[in-house]
Amino acid sequence: MTSQNPSPAPVTSFQSGPLHGVVTVPGDKSISHRALILGGLAAGETRISGLLEGEDVLCTAEAMRALGVDITRSDDGIWHVFGKGVGALSEPDKVLNMGNSGTAARLLMGLVANCPFTTFFQGDASLHSRPMGRISLPLGEMGANVTSRSEGRFPLAVSGRELMPIDYELPVASAQVKSAIMLAALDTPGISRITEPRPSRDHTENMLRHFGAEVTVTVQEDESRVIELAGQQELTAADIIVPGDPSSSAFLAVAAAITEGSDVTLNNIGLNPLRDGLFECLKEMGADIDVTNLRQEAGEKVGDIRIRSAPLTGIEVPPERAPSMIDEYPVLFVAAAFAKGKTVMRGIRELRVKESDRLSTMAEGLKACGVSLQEEEDGLIIEGDGSAPTGGATVATKLDHRIAMAFLTLGLGTEKPVTVDDGNVMETSFPGFVSLMKELGSDIRDGDSA
Ligand code: S3P
Repeated sequence: MTSQNPSPAPVTSFQSGPLHGVVTVPGDKSISHRALILGGLAAGETRISGLLEGEDVLCTAEAMRALGVDITRSDDGIWHVFGKGVGALSEPDKVLNMGNSGTAARLLMGLVANCPFTTFFQGDASLHSRPMGRISLPLGEMGANVTSRSEGRFPLAVSGRELMPIDYELPVASAQVKSAIMLAALDTPGISRITEPRPSRDHTENMLRHFGAEVTVTVQEDESRVIELAGQQELTAADIIVPGDPSSSAFLAVAAAITEGSDVTLNNIGLNPLRDGLFECLKEMGADIDVTNLRQEAGEKVGDIRIRSAPLTGIEVPPERAPSMIDEYPVLFVAAAFAKGKTVMRGIRELRVKESDRLSTMAEGLKACGVSLQEEEDGLIIEGDGSAPTGGATVATKLDHRIAMAFLTLGLGTEKPVTVDDGNVMETSFPGFVSLMKELGSDIRDGDSA
């Protein structure tokens, strides 16, 4: 775990020539967590191929094992989950360590809320600072008891019991909150109803259907969604192919867009319409992007993406697009730093409660790299003249994988190299990021630039 790694390892990216190649990126993090969790509840063996073997997902695998699910990995890279059926988890004999992963933490809190025992959770320093009240509150309404540190923070304990169904309107667009409630509702008699004012990623809904459950989603006139789930349905094991993670592919896409002469193809990327906001933005900014080979796998849209470099222009990003690209803002900020004109991004206060405060961490680092910007409480405005920013700074990653990858992407185009203070953090979501980038032709080296 990054939390246990004592020695930070700086990594530096240098201005690079054109990037070329056809690559696949590691599996989707959101889908990987859900495959292990729902696979553990589905009766029978679920075989998962393409599972992301990053630290976040490995925390979920370890936690599911501690809850009594038999999970193995065969030499061909396939993960085998021998599901116990809904309502059959057993009491862990240790504290569940969620590492850096908000998704593992929040989904598993929901999962154990109706188990007849107490589950203890902890994580790294980043996770201990993140808000968990957004999960404890609805779980508490359903009847579970969550005992936490002040302001609902980790470490905490969830004492499960038989729950009551809930009718809950999400105060923030959050797939983690929605999914935690759905997981708690799965073994709760009656129908639970969740209203989301703005749609968030729907991988839990898709995968529940893939395992044979009935989930009803009604899209209302104002685009809000009502999700209804009847409890105590049986899930049946089904194989899952995890597509490449669009959030990981975003770094490669922006790297190709900003590095002159680049032509990169990313195969087998998840293109769920509730995740594709960054590609929309890049297209509006003038990026040259083609999507081919569109298909459907395990209830998810998948395709190949070809990106060629092109001059970018600033845009105003509609705030309602934020949930469909919430993890991609750090790298969108990078694209904006190379674009001509203003890029206005608002309605993104949620970035302040991610693995780090991504608004201020990015603003601080970009400023140090000579980017002209204005930070607002819920947004960022970046103004460029279409030329490369200066770079030449060392940036604090603050236990945040996406900060590290965003700044290493930036450094491929800046005049002077950009160093991130700790490359280990990338292991949480994108093992092999640096070698994949090198394979495409980028100049990224261990150590600082001195
Ligand atoms: C995720 C949902 C998002 C996202 C996170 C993964 C998920 O968080 O930022 O990386 O898998 O459900 P929120 O639910 O807090 O928006």
